[in-house]
Amino acid sequence: MSETFKNFIAGEWVAPSTGEYFDNRNPADWNDVIGKFPRSGPADMLKAIESAKRGFARWSKTPAPIRGQVLQRVGDLLVERKDAIAKAMTREMGKVLAETRGDVQEGIDTAFYAATEGRRLFGRTVPSELRNKWAMSYRRPIGIAGLITPFNFPLAIPTWKMFPALLCGNAVIFKPAEDVPHTGHLLVEVLIEAGLPPEVVQLVHGQGSVVGRAMVEHRDVPVISFTGSTETGSLIGATCGKMHKRLSLEMGGKNAMIVMDDADLDLALDGVLWGAFGTTGQRCTATSRLILQDKIHDRFLRMVCDRAEKLRLGPGLEDKSEVGPLIHEVARQKVAEYATVFAGVKAGMRVEQEEIFGPALAVIKVKDLDEAIRVNNDVIYGLSSALYTRDVNGAFRAIEDLDNGITYVNAPTIGAEAHMPFGGVKQTGNGHREGGWEVYDFYSETKTVYVDYSGTLQRAQIDTYQT
Ligand code: UN1
Repeated sequence: MSETFKNFIAGEWVAPSTGEYFDNRNPADWNDVIGKFPRSGPADMLKAIESAKRGFARWSKTPAPIRGQVLQRVGDLLVERKDAIAKAMTREMGKVLAETRGDVQEGIDTAFYAATEGRRLFGRTVPSELRNKWAMSYRRPIGIAGLITPFNFPLAIPTWKMFPALLCGNAVIFKPAEDVPHTGHLLVEVLIEAGLPPEVVQLVHGQGSVVGRAMVEHRDVPVISFTGSTETGSLIGATCGKMHKRLSLEMGGKNAMIVMDDADLDLALDGVLWGAFGTTGQRCTATSRLILQDKIHDRFLRMVCDRAEKLRLGPGLEDKSEVGPLIHEVARQKVAEYATVFAGVKAGMRVEQEEIFGPALAVIKVKDLDEAIRVNNDVIYGLSSALYTRDVNGAFRAIEDLDNGITYVNAPTIGAEAHMPFGGVKQTGNGHREGGWEVYDFYSETKTVYVDYSGTLQRAQIDTYQT
């Protein structure tokens, strides 16, 4: 008998109002059922929203350094449970243990960064135009943040959203992907044990089209953050646009690695294997295009094929596995339509343009850096890019001209660090960044304050020019 899990609403673990559940299965062994998880309905989401309002009233008044201390304890607990959570995550979504440990580590780093931010959260004080007057800005919490997260980083991505949202004084409602509800459950357990007041976080399992939608469409959830497909992002964006909500979108990628004739080819080889086949290609930052300059093209392509053939596929829990299974059968069938390494691809072909989200690499030959940059830029997405070269002038020119949110020089397209801004241009996102310091702008509202202590009416823009 598999365990039956619950939602976390109004400070309690509760069964869904629908009485319905779905099975969560191990992608490496379809007979292994991890548990039954709630297929919640809109009524559950409504309860979560009512509770989060109470949580917000309390948490938004808790001083930010104290909020930071809670996140410090969250980080400490994640350190203690790193291995246990990593194992549960591998069982639930398939990627190899080294990677699921890395996923938890990203959450730990994000927690400790957030903890220290509790003692910064800088506002600004600037000179006023007028005498005896102060002008300043500071940050206020916004309200309830609704977080919708994907399967590929089941712990890290929720923490990228949740920890800064909480540190800024918001309450959160967490709707994890249906493929990874168990990791979501384990994360919420950590938050509660770390001392987060119980109504500040709500966990509602279920389908995006039901509970995700109920949350996005509810007027009392003013902030939405979504990582997932460009298609779903557009639907969410349309609703948030109509309702004037603050929205952060992190969506598709078609990331390229460019290898120039002068590159260190052994280094580039390690980079492309990790970038394209790490996480079984299921990263929005995955390398899915390899752009090769013509002189090294044939040789490097052979090197890639030789090594790609030798990658050890297998269950993520086995030490010798380098590449785990795909998330589910539908993904497997979709990826099976594409070969692993696709040589002779021309710019503009479908395999060169569309996100596959699996271990598939399209290889394109170019004559020089300008053409490489053009090919890189000629897709609808703009998340990350990588350039392997020893030419420092070319590298800096490329940094400016590659149309991506993130560019790596002599490193693969994956591997963002938690304290740096993360996000893409064009249809990858909508201008916001996660990670680092920038995400704190997204989860807080700026309040501008003027204090006039002159005791007279001073008219801005009118009484300014007195020396
Ligand atoms: C994602 O695939 O959605 O930079 C995020 C990386 C990881 C995060 C990827 N740290 O590849």
